[in-house]
Amino acid sequence: MTVEISNNYNELSIQVSEKIAGYINAMPGTLVCLAAGNTPLGAFRELVAMQERGEVDLSSVWYAGLDEWIGLGPGDVGSCAQVMNEALYKHISKERIRIFDGLDSDEEKQCRDMENWIKSHGGLGFTLLGIGMNGHIGFNEPGASDAEGCFLVDLDDITKSVSKKYFGKELPIAKGITIGWRTLFNAGNVVLMASGKEKAPIVKAALQGPVTPDIPATQFKKHNKLTVMLDKDAASLI
Ligand code: GLP
Repeated sequence: MTVEISNNYNELSIQVSEKIAGYINAMPGTLVCLAAGNTPLGAFRELVAMQERGEVDLSSVWYAGLDEWIGLGPGDVGSCAQVMNEALYKHISKERIRIFDGLDSDEEKQCRDMENWIKSHGGLGFTLLGIGMNGHIGFNEPGASDAEGCFLVDLDDITKSVSKKYFGKELPIAKGITIGWRTLFNAGNVVLMASGKEKAPIVKAALQGPVTPDIPATQFKKHNKLTVMLDKDAASLI
């Protein structure tokens, strides 16, 4: 595990975007999974700017969406699809991207389709992960099983209460759909990013505490190509 600490969020965003662009330029044709959430938005802005400067072709790799809130579709503000479309995917050829649809009630088929998409592209080459306030990764919630592939989950209470920040109000959302942590773990390269003082305690627990299913992020410490990228605030307790 390598830990890289940037002075502030802007620097972190630039560092992460360069890491992603470096991977894309080196490994065209492979499959990438990028977390939604607020943390990577600055990195996505930088990536789009890099593409506009001709420094990266974002359509030279394939994309698998990490997760989605059940009950929300691409037209709903705060859904992972809406956030990712707006921040990044609208700058990428559509056929390159597969995401979950939180409005499609056939979740089993969605899981199978995503698993097939991942398999047919040779597995994940690179994944950018955020960390939830409870240590979740995607929607691999505390206590998450070892399941490979994709699945439907009951959301943790902390996840439900934090979710208000995306929707501007409380929505009656109880479930999520996600790529399982074992499948994410099998990616050749994993970048875990976090920003801000409020993430400092969970970052400390994830990096310095024991590996436990209660904090899914700890499972990634066993990955031999894990880069943890933090700003100073998120790193303030380690
Ligand atoms: C969300 C998503 C994750 C995301 C994480 C951190 O609930 N399920 O994919 O990485 O929690 O989000 P944020 O970056 O907004 O703190």
